[in-house]
Amino acid sequence: MVKLIKIIFYFLTFSYSLLAEDRIITEKELIAHSSQSSCWIKIDKNIYNITDYISIHQEKFKYNLTKWCGKDSTKSWVDKDGKKKGHSRKAKNLLKKYQIGTLDVN
Ligand code: HEM
Repeated sequence: MVKLIKIIFYFLTFSYSLLAEDRIITEKELIAHSSQSSCWIKIDKNIYNITDYISIHQEKFKYNLTKWCGKDSTKSWVDKDGKKKGHSRKAKNLLKKYQIGTLDVN
């Protein structure tokens, strides 16, 4: 039973992530969300709305993500802002849940 619930959960998460990737977001839109009250970040080609996660990250890991709102934070995500170590697998899976689209490359 627990296994079945897990399978359904992963399926829903997977379907949602496919939907999220469909939305094309312009650089102008990204920049418009550069505050703590509405915070989007770019990592690789993907855009994430991390507004609800800022306070959790601050509280748990003592690092305020606000300065990356509206910006390309690929490098800082990869090396934890100069710490020279990457985020865990758990963090990478968590990140996927915040994806809202991909950046318009044209
Ligand atoms: C974009 C810029 C980001 C920077 C610079 C950054 C930086 C950091 C730092 C300094 C720590 C604590 C120190 C450490 O664990 O070594 C940390 C931990 C963590 N961060 Fe971030 N973070 C970023 C974004 C995110 C996002 C968007 C998520 C998830 C949605 C996230 C999830 C986590 C988790 C789960 C940890 C605990 C350690 C781990 O699992 O790797 N972070 N981060």
